[in-house]
Amino acid sequence: MAEYDYDLLVIGAGPGGYVAAIRAAQLGLKTACAESRETLGGTCLNVGCIPSKAMLHASEYFDAAKNGTMANMGIEVTPKLNLDVMHGQRRDAVKQLTGGIEFLFKKNKVDWKKGFATFQDAHTVKVGDETVTAKNVIIATGSSVTPLPGVEIDNDKQVVVDSTGALELKAVPKKMVVIGGGVIGLELGSVWRRLGAEVIVVEFLDQLLPGMDGDVRKEAAKIFKKQGMELRLSTKVTGCTVKGKKATLTLEPAAGGESETLEADCVLVSIGRRPNTTGLGLENIGLELNQRGQIETDHEFRTKVDGVWAVGDVIPGPMLAHKAEDEGIACAENVAGQTGIVNHDVIPGVVYTWPEFAGVGLTQEEAIAKAGGDKTKVKVGKFPMMANSRAKTNHEPDGFVKVIADAESDRVLGVWAIASVAGTMIAQAAQAMEFGATSEDIAYTCHAHPTHSEAIKEAAMGVQGKPIHI
Ligand code: FAD
Ligand code: NAI
Repeated sequence: MAEYDYDLLVIGAGPGGYVAAIRAAQLGLKTACAESRETLGGTCLNVGCIPSKAMLHASEYFDAAKNGTMANMGIEVTPKLNLDVMHGQRRDAVKQLTGGIEFLFKKNKVDWKKGFATFQDAHTVKVGDETVTAKNVIIATGSSVTPLPGVEIDNDKQVVVDSTGALELKAVPKKMVVIGGGVIGLELGSVWRRLGAEVIVVEFLDQLLPGMDGDVRKEAAKIFKKQGMELRLSTKVTGCTVKGKKATLTLEPAAGGESETLEADCVLVSIGRRPNTTGLGLENIGLELNQRGQIETDHEFRTKVDGVWAVGDVIPGPMLAHKAEDEGIACAENVAGQTGIVNHDVIPGVVYTWPEFAGVGLTQEEAIAKAGGDKTKVKVGKFPMMANSRAKTNHEPDGFVKVIADAESDRVLGVWAIASVAGTMIAQAAQAMEFGATSEDIAYTCHAHPTHSEAIKEAAMGVQGKPIHI
């Protein structure tokens, strides 16, 4: 009889966990995956990436019809919102994709253990009422919304909500206050603004989108303001009271000062996410968390406890689905005795608003800091979308592409893009960087015309000092 029930038990079936389980099974490991949710796919498929993109896509059409974009192209329509249908198509997308993971589990013979998992010891895990033993365990439990003291989230009431609640609003709020001008706040704030809400974003820092390139952050503020969002930067929320269907927030300048109140029909709390480790029984295996509540691993995704591995939002790094997936694959390969690697220097990030904001690698500020503060060691080329023939023809003038390269070696250090399809464009930059490209390599690569991607080529030509179209 085998010593353990499974070669591998994965805890959590989000993009980190389900991908790890499938890869492990493909490599011949007897694999199970514990998931406490009703459906597979984790945050991303159930309440994150997929449903938010379904609402962003649909609301973008509504906005284009309402704000004159379509009329400018000779299509005159007066849109009427059917929010139930919009929510329906979102739920359909989620159902199909989560069902798809269930199909993949069956196809690859991954056993789904339904229930919440708690370690008894490093090789024994209680999942619901069942006890499962495994030679290896991957923790892929993901993350949940960070609460804001004094602002109590109640998704059922639909007044103070988190991202999950904001995806399910039954009516368009008249006035929505978004706390946190990061990715979730801007994506979901955009959805409800497009559908008719007055949206006010309250952000603690002096710019939106922390972590992105400085020029991108400045441009983001201009673009969202132009679209009608009100931005209250360098401002903090100090409290919230709810009476019936109305919330009253108290705000203060981030540096301290006089407070004021702000009323809203809906408040979205989106100030970040934190790792899920409560109830996992980590104390039973002697695994400690770092100061940010994350599980630390080495570059092979091994924790300090033999046979226990971790990937995705629960470990350090950007909380992104594709980062979790790549770690899941690499970790499973390492469990199977192969060499799985993730290059954490080349992980693209995309904000799926209109236009999209995307980047990969270093920001200009980071590149200069890495060069010891010497600006001459970093070369930058920038190309406005206004001068890109396709963007101009499509009436999409906002944005630019910025290529950042090492002044000596010309190696590309980072690429940033604001464009309607920046999320798609950034893949070519990531690939170029993965192959160690120089800006000259990109500048001399033939790009199809007319495409938005030509702006990347032109920005790279800018690093060389010789763009054609500006
Ligand atoms: P998760 O997807 O969080 O999955 C973890 C799973 O583990 C969950 O299903 C949970 O129920 C389960 N679990 C936890 N503890 C236990 C336990 N003890 N026992 C059993 N099961 C357990 N990222 C992008 O890259 N692109 C996007 O467009 C994007 N959009 C987003 C939009 C929103 C609104 C949100 C909230 C997030 C978005 N993200 C996006 C982030 C993305 O969802 C996460 O980075 C990704 O889901 C992390 O994957 P994971 O596998 O680490 O964890
Ligand atoms: P975030 O980290 O992107 O943004 C949070 C924002 O809130 C920051 O700008 C921060 O300065 C601000 N903030 C923090 N405390 C505050 C306070 N008390 N008052 C006002 N502002 C405050 O976090 P967000 O948007 O909640 O998203 C969580 C995670 O989900 C992110 O790490 C992101 O990677 C992931 N995600 C990714 C998406 C994508 O890839 N398109 C979409 C949505 C989420």
